[in-house]
Amino acid sequence: MTAVLLTGATSGLGRWLAPRLGQAGLTVLLHGRDAGKVERGVAEVEEAGGAAEGFVADLASLADVDRLAGAVRDRDDLTILVNNAGVGFGARASSGRRAPTGTSCAGPSTSSRPSG
Ligand SMILES: NC(=O)c1ccc[n+]([C@@H]2O[C@H](COP(=O)([O-])OP(=O)(O)OC[C@H]3O[C@@H](n4cnc5c(N)ncnc54)[C@H](OP(=O)(O)O)[C@@H]3O)[C@@H](O)[C@H]2O)c1
Repeated sequence: MTAVLLTGATSGLGRWLAPRLGQAGLTVLLHGRDAGKVERGVAEVEEAGGAAEGFVADLASLADVDRLAGAVRDRDDLTILVNNAGVGFGARASSGRRAPTGTSCAGPSTSSRPSG
């Protein structure tokens, strides 16, 4: 089965898309920054008849981005990355001013780079 890593799958567009990707026959690697929301998202995919696995990472943290990439990079079934996680400009992170850039730009570009 083909897997898709969907970041920011716990709210908004990502939450809407996740069960639909599962219904389309993809294994959804469902990412979010809140463990409870990720668990709920996995359940929603499964209730819709799909398969999902949950991953928790704060993409404003490059350490978390690396950890997420390390958890999925050796999967033979992973062929699609949907870099959906993001925040609008003006949002503030608890860790400081990096939230918009770190999440919307650095996180996705880092997690998309070739591994090895
Ligand atoms: N909605 C629009 O009109 C619009 C327009 C242009 C572009 N976009 C882009 O489209 C994407 C989805 O938009 P949306 O409206 O569906 O957004 P949303 O409802 O705010 O959902 C964003 C998702 O990203 C996650 N996220 C945010 N910061 C994160 C972080 N630091 N680490 C990990 N995950 C994080 C959120 O997790 P939580 O559930 O924990 O919050 C949520 O799952 C975003 O990239 C957004 O910038 C949206």
